Amino acid sequence: MVLATSFFASLLLLATAKLTAPRTMVVHESRAAPAQGFVQSGAAPAEQQLTLRIALKQNNIAGLETELYKVSDPASELYGQHLTLEEVTEFVKPTDETLAAVSSWLSENNIDAKPVTPAGDMLEIKIPVSQANDLLSAEFSVFTHIETGKTIIRTLQYSLPAPLTQHVEFFHPTTIFAPPLASMPKFVAASPAKRATPGSDDLPRFMHLDYDPCELYGIPTTPATQKSNTLGVAGFIDEWANQEDLTEFLTNLRTDINPSTTFGLETLDGGSNPQNRSQAGVEADLDIQYTVGLATGVPVTFISAGDDNPDGLNGFLDMILLLINDPNRPSVLTTSYSFQAETDLTLSVATNLCNMYMQLGALGTSLLFSSGDGGVSGGQPQSCGNYVPVFPGTCPYITSVGSTGGINQNPGINEIGSSFSSGGFSNYFAIPDYQAADVAAYIAWIDSLGTIPEDGRFNRSGRGFPDVSAQGENFEIVVDGQFGTVAGTSCSSPTFASVIALLNDELVAAGKPVLGFLNPFLYSSVGRAALNDVQFGDNFGCGTDGFFGHAGWDAVTGLGTPNYTALRTAVGL
Ligand SMILES: *[C@@H]1O[C@H](CO)[C@@H](O)[C@H](O)[C@H]1NC(C)=O
Ligand SMILES: *[C@@H]1O[C@H](CO)[C@@H](O)[C@H](O)[C@H]1NC(C)=O
Ligand SMILES: *[C@@H]1O[C@H](CO)[C@@H](O)[C@H](O)[C@H]1NC(C)=O
Repeated sequence: MVLATSFFASLLLLATAKLTAPRTMVVHESRAAPAQGFVQSGAAPAEQQLTLRIALKQNNIAGLETELYKVSDPASELYGQHLTLEEVTEFVKPTDETLAAVSSWLSENNIDAKPVTPAGDMLEIKIPVSQANDLLSAEFSVFTHIETGKTIIRTLQYSLPAPLTQHVEFFHPTTIFAPPLASMPKFVAASPAKRATPGSDDLPRFMHLDYDPCELYGIPTTPATQKSNTLGVAGFIDEWANQEDLTEFLTNLRTDINPSTTFGLETLDGGSNPQNRSQAGVEADLDIQYTVGLATGVPVTFISAGDDNPDGLNGFLDMILLLINDPNRPSVLTTSYSFQAETDLTLSVATNLCNMYMQLGALGTSLLFSSGDGGVSGGQPQSCGNYVPVFPGTCPYITSVGSTGGINQNPGINEIGSSFSSGGFSNYFAIPDYQAADVAAYIAWIDSLGTIPEDGRFNRSGRGFPDVSAQGENFEIVVDGQFGTVAGTSCSSPTFASVIALLNDELVAAGKPVLGFLNPFLYSSVGRAALNDVQFGDNFGCGTDGFFGHAGWDAVTGLGTPNYTALRTAVGL
């Protein structure tokens, strides 16, 4: 009896201790003020529900990186042997210890969590603001984006119980203030409003006002044959791709393709693709027209993210989650959107998302992103002192595509880097091995020029971008029935992605694996020899001339533009 009582009492004591002992809370992430462009406009309503993601420590992300390079480096015996989802999951899942620590803390606080990734390394919880403030010693408040009037709920600081800091990467969205995405190439409507009769002399040339990219880069126009090899086109911020515009584009500019060629649709975060022609988006129409219209016969899927974004990143992370989970994921994804600056994301969130791109690369998907349209000033032109690197271009596990324009001299190509083509060096990600020699050579060349304006404005130990480039000026498109032209790295990424999709088609037909993560191949001696080295142009911004084109890799055009014939041989076809 006595024994039992004291046992019970000590149990009670234990339980009470657990409930009442003040836990040491440690500040996990903080910032002094909201990002530029946002103002604090009061406390968040106590009862408002927040959806928060918890990123847990992954057990062996370095191991996954090693595997990624093994399957992506043409010199490796394992080249092309992409990982399965189960294999990727083994690297990114949290340890049992991490899972136990986090789930007992959450259940002590009566919080239900559901995993949002196959590996369970990211959890989602829904709790009211008042509970989030208590749980995280935070002060969730309403912040207004001045330019758009859009409001978000964030906190400038949050804390975790000391024992949990080793298990949790971050809570999200908390201290992140991402302004609207950069994209939106300017559409200049042609005059007269409709295209003149094809074939007449005053007309722009087939596909492109200056040159036909198929001719320029040797891109085949014979249809692809492998239906399993698909090309994904990312859509964000209510940009919708219109079928009638595509039909009109094909009718006039790719007369050899069936004009009723269509594209598939996949949606996330409440996304859709309404077909009222007046709702056609310039970016979405451009991206669809220069994939369906260039990657002849390759099945194209428009992946449309809506505005209900629990990832706090306009759907950028949710789209990657969707594709990791999709056994029929495309073998190439092109994205013509970016954040305006790397610092739009916190280092922790940028690192996590970049590691998700790593997972998709290991699974065998090539990820191409436009490098940005603000030259050295970021995703869009903006005033700056130091140069502004652009995410996701700075993530080492994606392929960043810059822009060229210029003169087609016959014979040979004389392309010039576009002044708007973003490029430079990361402040978040170190130089990956595959480009270490290139970045060193380029910086040595800059130094050899003596004191020049860019000196001191960029990070000499950061990952250099873009990786490659393609034409990006004067692209003719159809929007809402109107012919016109656009310019931007938004033109370049679908163009390069179409080249990769066609190479993949031939590889699959030959019984070979698709290319997957491209950079170790592109930077290899075989890969770079299959690109046209663009050595001219500069990407001005921040009141300077920016970086200059140069022989070999440069921070305007990367390694250069594609030569399909040479790439075919380089990939072993
Ligand atoms: C398409 O959108 C326009 C402009 O918003 C509207 O006037 C028209 O009624 C819509 N058409 C259809 C078929 O919904
Ligand atoms: C420069 O880049 C390196 C590598 O990513 C990083 O560790 C360092 O913090 C960066 N420096 C600045 C000033 O941002
Ligand atoms: C593209 O590569 C092929 C084959 O290597 C070569 O004959 C051709 O000259 C190259 N084109 C350009 C523009 O360099």
